[in-house]
Amino acid sequence: SGAARPRLTFLGVGYLGATYAICFAELGYEVMGVDVDPERIARLGEGEVPFHEPGLDELLRRNLASGRLRFSTSYEEAAEFGDVHFICVGTPQRADGMGADLSYVEASVSSLAQNLTRKALIVGKSTVPVGTAEWIEQLVGKHTPADLGVEVAWSPEFLQEGFAVEDVLRPNRIVVGVKSEWANGMLYAAHKGVFDLAATEDREVPLVVTDFATAELVKVAANAFLATKISFINAMAEVCEVAGGDVTQLAKAIGYDPRIGNRFLQAGVGFGGGCLPKDIRAFQARAQELGAGEALRFLHEVDLINMRRRNRVLQLAAELLNRRYGPAGPDLSGTRIAVLGATFKPNSDDVRDAPALAVAALLRKAGSDVRVYDPQGMENARKAQPDLTYEATMDDAVRDADLVCVLTEWADFRNADPAALGELAAGRRVVDGRNCLDSTAWTQAGWEYRGM
Ligand code: UGA
Repeated sequence: SGAARPRLTFLGVGYLGATYAICFAELGYEVMGVDVDPERIARLGEGEVPFHEPGLDELLRRNLASGRLRFSTSYEEAAEFGDVHFICVGTPQRADGMGADLSYVEASVSSLAQNLTRKALIVGKSTVPVGTAEWIEQLVGKHTPADLGVEVAWSPEFLQEGFAVEDVLRPNRIVVGVKSEWANGMLYAAHKGVFDLAATEDREVPLVVTDFATAELVKVAANAFLATKISFINAMAEVCEVAGGDVTQLAKAIGYDPRIGNRFLQAGVGFGGGCLPKDIRAFQARAQELGAGEALRFLHEVDLINMRRRNRVLQLAAELLNRRYGPAGPDLSGTRIAVLGATFKPNSDDVRDAPALAVAALLRKAGSDVRVYDPQGMENARKAQPDLTYEATMDDAVRDADLVCVLTEWADFRNADPAALGELAAGRRVVDGRNCLDSTAWTQAGWEYRGM
């Protein structure tokens, strides 16, 4: 008996859970967001989104006002309230650097299960190693009486930071891993708002109904593919550099083949963020455990190509500044470098595993006086790399710099006037770490330009 409009809880209201909770309230569901962090819950309850995501603030305030959305620190309240419970807690990289840490998943599932007094569906959404759904099912079995009939399902998410609201309201597919018709029906009801919205816009959202393992694997396979695509084009960039080719034109030319596609072929300083780097490592670790390590050995290479891009910026910096690049890297002492960009991509304030910030730290370690500026990421960057020097504006960062490195492709940087910046800089040298600048315009303004 699938409820027509099940009540939903999102357990863990970090980036993922908060975005889903808010968007599903917008779709018309009664929603509760739950977290063990009282400060986070208080802020959300007051209408403040604790991270940067375009469009989300307005939806939060509107749906708090509508009464459809509430926040709580209580798993007891969550158990009482919800028909379908989505697990959205974090799965950080384990201390050993490879596998995923499932302690938050375990804690949240146990707390919920212990408080359940009626039949409900528990749906995993966090990115996890394949096999986790089965394990959660056993965990739930331990904490709830069998006659309650609590069931488990899996439904991965594919949010991109900066586009998360659209990705939830208008996803390009919904994937569910289920074991029963009841679970299938409940999950359909829990997503009916998404299908209805699509219907009013004359779109269709493909639905893939599958088993637990496939649903779990879809997520990591998709991220592994995207990471591989980026490293592929960065590997081509390495070859272009020695062969004298232009990787941007190469990407454009291969991208016209629809089997390849033109997206995610932007060569540069590589991928970062809270997902791709961690996911490809955890996926390899899991495959190894399962005895299929060889199948994913190429992901190690994907990771290596990605990390080499950071050193490539150091090489280009040394080249432009006429410094030797020794076995321990370049000696950049006595130079000043402006690093433009700190976040892992534009339109985000997220600096987790950000190539820009990592390169800034490497340049500083090489002895340079590094000045960092980012339009949105300064607060998080200061916390992550407190030793770096931050400037309040792009102009302040560029003033008196011997070299400018653009490492995140913010529109502010792409649209900057190279002539005006040239007046401020001590030397007109620029490394375009994202191949995002108009190289002709910069060169005409007297800059010595190097792309990736
Ligand atoms: C990524 C995936 O794109 C989402 O589909 C997925 O849901 C999400 O991870 C997740 O697992 O939660 P996200 O981390 O927000 O989303 O960022 P992306 O837009 O994928 O960018 C990742 C990194 O790749 C950025 O550092 C970006 O600069 C870099 N990138 C991207 C390139 O270097 N070149 C490209 O062509 C594209």
